Amino acid sequence: MRIDKFIGNNSDLSRTLIHVAIKRGLVTCNGETINKTNASMDDSDVIILNGEIITATQTRYIMLHKPAGYVCANTDSEHPTVLDLIDIPRKESLQIAGRLDLDTTGLVLLTDDGQWNHLLTSPNKSCSKCYFVTTTDSISDATASMFAEGVLLRGETKLTLPAHLTLVNSHQARLEIKEGKYHQVKRMFAAAGNNVIALHRESIGNILLDAQLNPGEYRHLTDIEISSFN
Ligand code: URA
Repeated sequence: MRIDKFIGNNSDLSRTLIHVAIKRGLVTCNGETINKTNASMDDSDVIILNGEIITATQTRYIMLHKPAGYVCANTDSEHPTVLDLIDIPRKESLQIAGRLDLDTTGLVLLTDDGQWNHLLTSPNKSCSKCYFVTTTDSISDATASMFAEGVLLRGETKLTLPAHLTLVNSHQARLEIKEGKYHQVKRMFAAAGNNVIALHRESIGNILLDAQLNPGEYRHLTDIEISSFN
């Protein structure tokens, strides 16, 4: 993108004033003074105008197909993080809306819109999440009834909210839950005497993981997807 356009998009200066600033040597790109008004930049470049950093102010909403082995955190000393998979400016300001375990794959939403994140993650909003679960032992019909009634997880005082389990085959099922307790799906199956060996999130609310995204790939959400949480 052209630097003058980037500054114009993210400040209230006219193109003329931006060109004057560039000609006066008041604009730097990664510390180097710019002297051409048509100079261009990469998304990760740092632009400073008259001592002030210019940041892209647009709010971002991203869906990522999380692969196993990536941590849902902004930094981690042991493992790569989901942010390592994302290549956009100011990615450090993205919040992860509903974390997945290191070994869980599937849909992760990231945004720098704190209110939108709250709509997805607040316990009061009961946003539904659908997981594809693979277990070590066969899944019984009794498990579905147990989950529908609510489960007392180890260390908790309240039952889980009613959850919907649909068997796919003897060792695989889809589970829809409306809350996001720590390791919730694994703990629910543990409470039923089973073990989860693979877990994949397929959807959050009405947002489905895009089948075009391979593990590690991401895309920006559409306006319809964004507004599905308003
Ligand atoms: N429940 C879990 O146990 N793990 C996840 O990553 C997500 C939900």
